[in-house]
Amino acid sequence: MAPKPPPSLFTWLILPIIVLIFLYSTLLPLYTLSSTNSQPRKPKIPISPKCNLFEGHWVTDTNQKPMYDETCPFHRNAWNCLRNKRDNMSLINSWKWVPGKCELSRIDPFEFLGLMRNKNIGFVGDSLNENFLVSFLCILRVADERAKKWKRKGAWRGAYFPKFNVTVAYHRAVLLAKYKLQPKQSTVFDQEGLNGIHRVDIDVPSEDWAGIINFYDVLVFNTGHWWGYDKFPKETPLVFYKAGKPILPPLGMLDGLKVVLDNMVAYIQKEFPKKTIKFWRLQSPRHFYGGEWNQNGSCLLNEPLEEHQWKARTFLACPPIPMYSVSVLKPILIPEQLDLWFDPSNNGVNKEARQLNSVIEEALRDTDIKILDLTHLSEFRADAHPAIWLGKKDAVAEWGQDCMHWCLPGVPDTWVDILSQFIRYSLETG
Ligand SMILES: *[C@@H]1O[C@H](CO)[C@@H](O)[C@H](O)[C@H]1NC(C)=O
Ligand SMILES: *[C@@H]1O[C@H](CO)[C@@H](O)[C@H](O)[C@H]1NC(C)=O
Ligand SMILES: *[C@@H]1O[C@H](CO)[C@@H](O)[C@H](O)[C@H]1NC(C)=O
Repeated sequence: MAPKPPPSLFTWLILPIIVLIFLYSTLLPLYTLSSTNSQPRKPKIPISPKCNLFEGHWVTDTNQKPMYDETCPFHRNAWNCLRNKRDNMSLINSWKWVPGKCELSRIDPFEFLGLMRNKNIGFVGDSLNENFLVSFLCILRVADERAKKWKRKGAWRGAYFPKFNVTVAYHRAVLLAKYKLQPKQSTVFDQEGLNGIHRVDIDVPSEDWAGIINFYDVLVFNTGHWWGYDKFPKETPLVFYKAGKPILPPLGMLDGLKVVLDNMVAYIQKEFPKKTIKFWRLQSPRHFYGGEWNQNGSCLLNEPLEEHQWKARTFLACPPIPMYSVSVLKPILIPEQLDLWFDPSNNGVNKEARQLNSVIEEALRDTDIKILDLTHLSEFRADAHPAIWLGKKDAVAEWGQDCMHWCLPGVPDTWVDILSQFIRYSLETG
C-alpha cells in the first residue's frame, strides 16, 4: 500500500500549487484579451435556426466526389490543383464537413439557380473571395453548361448563367477602402526612409465596388489578407485619410483596419437596400509551417489537422527550393493541435486570422450583415492548399509555397454549401 502523504506535504506543496493554478486561471485572461479564441469557442448566434454549421469536424467519405474537374473554364491556373497534378487530390476531396448537430447538405446547383432566378450574387474583397467565387462558378456551371464569362466596368470577373438569368461576380477591393500609392514628393509625410505612402481614404469605398449598390441581391464581403507589412512595407506604409485630410497622429495598421471597417460597414448599412442579403466572410486561415511564405514556409500535409489530440504527425519536409521534386519529400514530425498553429499567443506565422476576426466581429455588431465564420472549419485543412503545385515552373522559387489560397476543387466547395444554405434560408424567411 502506498504510504499516506504526511499532512505537511499537502500544506507545503499541494495547497500552494492549487492556489497558483487558481490565480493563473483567473488572472491569465486579463493578459490574453486579444486571444479570446484560445478559450473554448463561444457559441456564435446562428444565422439559421437549424444548427450551427460552423462547428463540427471533418470525416472521410470516399463516396464523395467533387462536382467539377480541371476543365471548368472559370479556373485560375494557380488554384487548379487537378491540372497541376497536386498529390493526393482525391484524398483532399474525400473529407466532408459534418456540423455537430446536423448534416450539411451539398448544394444542388439546379435547385439553387432556380431559387436565384433573375438574381445576382456579388463577392467583394481580396483574392480569397475570388478563390470562393471560382468554386461557386464551377459548381453552378453543372446546372448551366452555357455559363459564360462576364465582365463589366468595375467588376473584375464573374459568370452569367443564361438559363436562369443569374450573374455571380467578384469585385477586387483588397482593403475595401480606396487607396493609392503616392510618390515621395507629393506627400506631406516627408520622413527619412520613406519611398512614398499608400494613401487610404477610410471613408471612400474603392471604385471597384462603388457602383454596385442596386445590382446584387446577395453580397459577400471580406478583407484581411492585405493588412500586413509584406503587402505594405515600412518604406511605403499605409497612411489613413479622413474627409481628405491625414489622420493625426498616424494610425498603425490594426487601428487603420478598425476605422476602415467602421466606415465601410457604415457605408454598406446606409447605401445598400435593406432587402440585399449581406454576408461577411471571416478570415481564411493560412497554414505556413516552419516560416512565413517568403521563409520557406510549407504545408505539405497528408491529412487535416486534429483539434484536441497532441500527437506528432507526419509532415513532408520541403527540399531546397527550387530543386524540389516530389519524390524526395522527407517526412518530419510536427504537432497537430490546432491552437498551436493559430492562437495569437503562440505568435506563430498563422496567428493573424483569429486576431483579425475579433476586430471584424466588433465592427459588424448591430448590423444586418451576417457573419460567415468559415475560419474554424478551414483551420483544420492544412492539407488542402496548392503548396508547391502552382502550375508554373519557377513559382515556388519566386513566391514560396502557396499555403494561403485553396486547391479547387477543395475546401471552398464546402464554403459554397454553407453559403447557399444561408442564402436559401434568408430568401425563405424574408
Ligand atoms: C500522397 O501522395 C504521395 C505521392 O503520390 C504518396 O506517396 C502518398 O502515399 C500519398 N499519401 C497518402 C496519405 O495517401
Ligand atoms: C434578368 O434579371 C434582371 C435582374 O437581375 C432583370 O432586371 C431582367 O429583367 C431579367 N431578364 C429577364 C429576361 O428576365
Ligand atoms: C530557404 O531554403 C533555401 C534552400 O534550402 C535556403 O538557402 C534559404 O536560406 C532558406 N530561406 C530561409 C529564409 O530560411
